[in-house]
Amino acid sequence: MAAICDGRVVIVTGAARGIGREHALEFARHGARVVVNDVGAEVDGSGSSTGPAGEVVEAIRAMGGEAVADGSDVSDFEGARRLVASAVERFGDLHVLVNNAGILRDRMLVNMTEEEWDSVIRVHLRGTFAPLRHAAAYWRERHKAGHDVDARIINTTSSSGIYGNPGQGNYGAAKAGIAGLTVIAARELGRYGVTVNAVAPAALTRMTEGLIAASGRPEPEPGAFAPAAPDNIAPLVVWLASPGARDVTGRVFNVRGGMISVAEGWRAGPMVDKGARWAPHELDEVVPALLEKARPNVRPDGVTPEDAK
Ligand SMILES: NC(=O)c1ccc[n+]([C@@H]2O[C@H](COP(=O)([O-])OP(=O)(O)OC[C@H]3O[C@@H](n4cnc5c(N)ncnc54)[C@H](O)[C@@H]3O)[C@@H](O)[C@H]2O)c1
Repeated sequence: MAAICDGRVVIVTGAARGIGREHALEFARHGARVVVNDVGAEVDGSGSSTGPAGEVVEAIRAMGGEAVADGSDVSDFEGARRLVASAVERFGDLHVLVNNAGILRDRMLVNMTEEEWDSVIRVHLRGTFAPLRHAAAYWRERHKAGHDVDARIINTTSSSGIYGNPGQGNYGAAKAGIAGLTVIAARELGRYGVTVNAVAPAALTRMTEGLIAASGRPEPEPGAFAPAAPDNIAPLVVWLASPGARDVTGRVFNVRGGMISVAEGWRAGPMVDKGARWAPHELDEVVPALLEKARPNVRPDGVTPEDAK
């Protein structure tokens, strides 16, 4: 097996469990030195424990790899700064940041509390911005000092955010924000040798066990390929982190099992221009005529009603 991330220094946030754990292990198999970040929180963000991140570090060392644990809260600006600084201190450089940490506090909007809103927005959106901000500043300094920077940021969004899943207003708003931030960061950081992409994964983890059990999908036979296994997301993430993905930036990919698709973003659709200010009543006809020509929004699974026929 070709080790496609040999010698690269990688931070994976939320890497103690679920999808992030599998990213960390796959990076180690591909020769990367890994900072396993995790606060060890419950699904809803409560509590903290350094135990689970330490177990992933032990697993990487047992396979002959190099890893260290980091217990920083990624949504804490100073904690995120320490996370980036400690990767550089421990391994001498930083090449890849995978923003994966997340929590879930699902609720219909009419019942959602301020705390449920704030905590989810904080961990996902601020928890993506803060490490990205500090890593980007590090790479800009390296670039200005004349080093050849070939760095990566891989964010984690969700179909919930880019397509819209009822019952997840807080989570979906944060994940849509992460998709938007990915596009903007790609445009800002390309000049320093940094690509920025995002994955929208689907996998069976503690975060989704309720949703997937409710879907009624049958369990795969033992030993058979398991499309819902969380380790199916890592190959794309490791590839995006590798030198071979140098020209890919600003993209969002859906990943589940062996399926990879490109999420195509918002685009300006049918247009009308009066060349003057509209009177609101004129729009009675103009807006429905525009919508008649426009493609409908996709469903929560990313497909338009007409494509689904
Ligand atoms: N599982 C899916 O199908 C699915 C679908 C779409 C998106 N995602 C996203 O994938 C990512 C991983 O989810 P998962 O299913 O593996 O969940 P998970 O709960 O198994 O893992 C998330 C990890 O993040 C850690 N974490 C939480 N808050 C943190 C913080 N402030 N700082 C550092 N670490 C923190 C947790 O302790 C946990 O180990 C999340 O961003 C999630 O929103 C997952």
